[in-house]
Amino acid sequence: MGKIIVVTSGKGGVGKSTIAANIAFGLAFDGRKILLIDMDTGLRSLDLMLGTENELVFDLNDVLDGICTCEQAVFEVSRRPGLYMLPASQNIGSSAIKPQDVRALFATLKDTYDYIILDCPAGIERGFRNAVSAAESAILVITPDYVSLRSGERAFQLLTGEGVTDIQLIVNRIGRKPAVSLDECVRRMELPVLGFIPEDPKVSRMIAGGKPIIEYETAAGDAFERTVRRILGENVRYRPPHESLIHRIKTGFGKESACKS
Ligand SMILES: Nc1ncnc2c1ncn2[C@@H]1O[C@H](COP(=O)(O)OP(=O)(O)O)[C@@H](O)[C@H]1O
Ligand SMILES: [Mg+2]
Repeated sequence: MGKIIVVTSGKGGVGKSTIAANIAFGLAFDGRKILLIDMDTGLRSLDLMLGTENELVFDLNDVLDGICTCEQAVFEVSRRPGLYMLPASQNIGSSAIKPQDVRALFATLKDTYDYIILDCPAGIERGFRNAVSAAESAILVITPDYVSLRSGERAFQLLTGEGVTDIQLIVNRIGRKPAVSLDECVRRMELPVLGFIPEDPKVSRMIAGGKPIIEYETAAGDAFERTVRRILGENVRYRPPHESLIHRIKTGFGKESACKS
């Protein structure tokens, strides 16, 4: 029986879609059968991030409206066997979707996939509820700044209000001098940490080419790989981005380097 995980946040632009795409890609690379669902109706982006914009025909709204079956709308990403996608509609807003319909549909898919990853839209309105109401666990994404922290705290309240209590934290876009320290982020959110992802200019460059960063030996690519291994239950050491070379040598530099296969 598969697990439904929603990737969510309070504030937009913190990297939810980037994280959903990379995690789904990494889990499929590990041999799992993954369904990645874009819940950002009206503003879909996962197809661009994975270079599948020419592969999609139908979308989630078509399935919910009975225009096609789920099997017709879901397609396997040609560059990554085992990774399947269900795109969002680009024309219809989230108000056209009802949480109970989403829940019923996703419940029928759980036997087919190891993980169903839901990419949640920005904000805390209807689109958020549609995605969250179907999820069993959540990845809450923040960036290390006060606005994102505050909206993350709000998203946490809403998640627990919807009955989602298995929540893990990803701090994304960590630069050399974050406005809020990672310690403070973790202390304020009071959540188990799933990953620390550095700010990496290659992320946007790879997205432009429809290639997920996890495929590459870069700072963010390595951080995503460690994150995926934690989802799979491995005990992977936390390595704060931009840790000094001297510190890494002292604490066993290279211990994790075997992670890139
Ligand atoms: N770790 C990162 N380093 C650099 N840029 C990033 C990183 N994560 C996300 N981005 C960029 O941030 C922007 C917003 O990301 P996106 O995944 O669309 O956010 P959301 O889905 O939360 O709105 C994109 O341009 C993306 O390339
Ligand atoms: Mg998004």
